Amino acid sequence: MDFKLLTTDKGSKARAGELTTDHGTVQTPIFMPVGTAGTVKGVHQRELKDDVQAQIILGNTYHLYLRPGLDTIQKAGGLHKFNGWDGPILTDSGGYQVYSLSEIRKIKEEGATFKSHIDGSKHLFTPENVMDIQRIIGADIIMAFDECAPYPCDYSYARKSMDMTHRWLKRCCDQFDKTEGLYGYNQTLFPIIQGSTYKDLRVRSAETIASFEREGNAIGGLSVGEPAEEMYEMTDIVCNILPKDKPRYLMGVGTPVNLLECIALGIDMFDCVMPTRNARNGMLFTKNGIINIRNEKWKNDFSPIDASSDLYSDQVYTKAYLRHLMHAKELLGAQIASLHNLHFYLWLVKEARKKIIEGEFIQWKNKMVVELGKRL
Ligand code: GUN
Repeated sequence: MDFKLLTTDKGSKARAGELTTDHGTVQTPIFMPVGTAGTVKGVHQRELKDDVQAQIILGNTYHLYLRPGLDTIQKAGGLHKFNGWDGPILTDSGGYQVYSLSEIRKIKEEGATFKSHIDGSKHLFTPENVMDIQRIIGADIIMAFDECAPYPCDYSYARKSMDMTHRWLKRCCDQFDKTEGLYGYNQTLFPIIQGSTYKDLRVRSAETIASFEREGNAIGGLSVGEPAEEMYEMTDIVCNILPKDKPRYLMGVGTPVNLLECIALGIDMFDCVMPTRNARNGMLFTKNGIINIRNEKWKNDFSPIDASSDLYSDQVYTKAYLRHLMHAKELLGAQIASLHNLHFYLWLVKEARKKIIEGEFIQWKNKMVVELGKRL
């Protein structure tokens, strides 16, 4: 992997860069649509590439390991071959899903035991086997196995959990470095900063993670229920420590406003289920604010879903029609809304990048955060 930092904004810490993997180049800052089970829900690959203009997508170790299972993915020749997405892929390690999805989990020094949310079967994830699993899945960027502490979390638990995540990271790196990808292209490993909402822990974690000198770094344990201001404060603290010449990935974040605020703090990569999950419930993000398309207000509104958008489905379908599809629980409703939100998120980061390069980011960002937060 290669990362080129092209521009740093003068009015903020925002950056424009270029991240190159063996499956292609990604313009940063970037948003990665979440393809949990190897599919970005409701969006097929051509739409993802041509309409959404996604540059990199995310998959989940936890889900893919449980279903379809590693045997199938390996026989397919890796996730790219299995799901037909030939661009860059990043996989999360399961360090979050084990705690948020599985039924019973026990965390020990060795790893985390959990019961599958699908059939109740029992499994153990360790730093070593999670590296091996991600080698088999074959993502371009793979994530270290970590513990994402809940919020709120007392200091003592947060410190112990963070220390264990650091010890696990050493084991991840040892395992990753002594193994190779199976499919003839390179993979890279990103470590994850933890430390809950405690400043001194975040500083220690950022310093520790940076000392491993991997090709990129991630920030975890945020957007788990803490106030946005705290998330920004923690992000700022760690960005001031992380090396400037490597990409920084803020995991699981967030709203359009969160993205812009965190780009201003120096984040290069984001992922979040919000654009697709909220789309399925009728929430649309637009340049002028948030729409709940299920509302009575849109019943007879025959204007395009988004007149300012160049997305085909935003132009050809009306708000009233999309509202009808949502109420009728038609599959097409979820598809149109997911496409809209993903296209909007990708537009937002592309526009942010353009403004950073043109030296107009901060004025634009300050104006946009007011608009984006409005309820229409
Ligand atoms: N996704 C969102 N937050 C986290 C985190 O803290 N760890 C991991 N592995 N994934 C995440």
